[in-house]
Amino acid sequence: MKNILITGCAGYLGSKLTQKILSNSFCGRDYQLIGVDNLLWGKASINALSQLCSPHFDFHYRDITKIDGKLAKILLKADVVIHLAGYVGADLCKERNAQSWEVNYEATKNLVDFYLHTRNDSQPWFVFPDTNSSYGASKEPYLTEESPLNPLSDYGKQKMLAAKEVEKMKNHSIFRLATLFGLSPRMRLDLLPNDLVQKAYLMKDNQSHLEVYEGHFWRNFVHIDDVVSVLAYLTHSVIGQDEVGYARYLRGVFNLSDSRYDTTKLALIKKIFSLFSIDHSRIITSEKTDPDGRNCKMSTEKLLDALNRANAPDVFQTPMKDVLQSVYQYVSLFMGFPYLPAKNSPKECND
Ligand SMILES: NC(=O)c1ccc[n+]([C@@H]2O[C@H](COP(=O)([O-])OP(=O)(O)OC[C@H]3O[C@@H](n4cnc5c(N)ncnc54)[C@H](O)[C@@H]3O)[C@@H](O)[C@H]2O)c1
Repeated sequence: MKNILITGCAGYLGSKLTQKILSNSFCGRDYQLIGVDNLLWGKASINALSQLCSPHFDFHYRDITKIDGKLAKILLKADVVIHLAGYVGADLCKERNAQSWEVNYEATKNLVDFYLHTRNDSQPWFVFPDTNSSYGASKEPYLTEESPLNPLSDYGKQKMLAAKEVEKMKNHSIFRLATLFGLSPRMRLDLLPNDLVQKAYLMKDNQSHLEVYEGHFWRNFVHIDDVVSVLAYLTHSVIGQDEVGYARYLRGVFNLSDSRYDTTKLALIKKIFSLFSIDHSRIITSEKTDPDGRNCKMSTEKLLDALNRANAPDVFQTPMKDVLQSVYQYVSLFMGFPYLPAKNSPKECND
């Protein structure tokens, strides 16, 4: 039996990936999915996952910064590690600076060291989501995986340094992710497109304006379902369910973004306002600056070529407006419920 370990399995990306692996795509396979999370944002997503009642799912409420005997036993079992646990986003990492360094950088380094020392001959495949914040305020207009990394925020620095540690693993797949959006059991409304949809929904009932800063900045986005498809396909291949070993094509560092969604911030806001019938005159520009400094387009040629060679199912098919509409529907159904987090801040999150 093969073991898949997902750290951060209760998070926005982790809970959706866990759901995918436990549902249709791995049906009938001989595997165990071990989920580890310290439930920073509550247990609602784990409740949703436990309703799948899968015998393949084994959840552990643990902190990945503390590799004690119990966690070591869990780690030793893994054939593939999908390391998603972290403090996510520039604002949160500024607000909780020391903890974010401990979780995002030190814990990743410790995990890699653990595997290099205990299982040097039989290392698991290590999958890690980096962020396009690692590129920072790069002057290059079109970023490839070879472009220099120049993160401005602590979040970007932590992820860049952590990814360097992950590169020490023999088999690693590091994805530099664009900003995700769309629906998940642990919903995040702080992600830019999701946040703007929520704002548009709220603006329907009042006369407020939306302040936009650095509206000319280019931003990259990707539908969470596409990221989940890529990670699930890779996992599927790593645990030996295809005869050809397609995973080898996905070894290395890849930008993961949907270039059809490339847009400036202002164009995105206008698109969302048009979609939900908010007048563009309600957008006002501000002189504020963005500490993250992202203003770029990402090349996805390397990833598309690898997915093609790996015979992966098609991704990047869903129109952006369909995803935005699904978020709008979610917001209109649940707005006002106490567990709907308005910001990515643990203080404001209830179960
Ligand atoms: N969402 C995005 O747009 C995006 C973009 C680029 C990269 N990423 C990366 O993807 C990963 C997942 O992001 P997400 O959006 O799902 O974030 P999230 O905040 O929803 O999930 C992170 C999860 O990690 C868990 N966690 C935090 N500290 C932990 C600890 N010490 N021990 C155990 N679990 C812990 C949290 O409880 C949470 O469930 C992160 O590594 C993030 O840097 C996300």
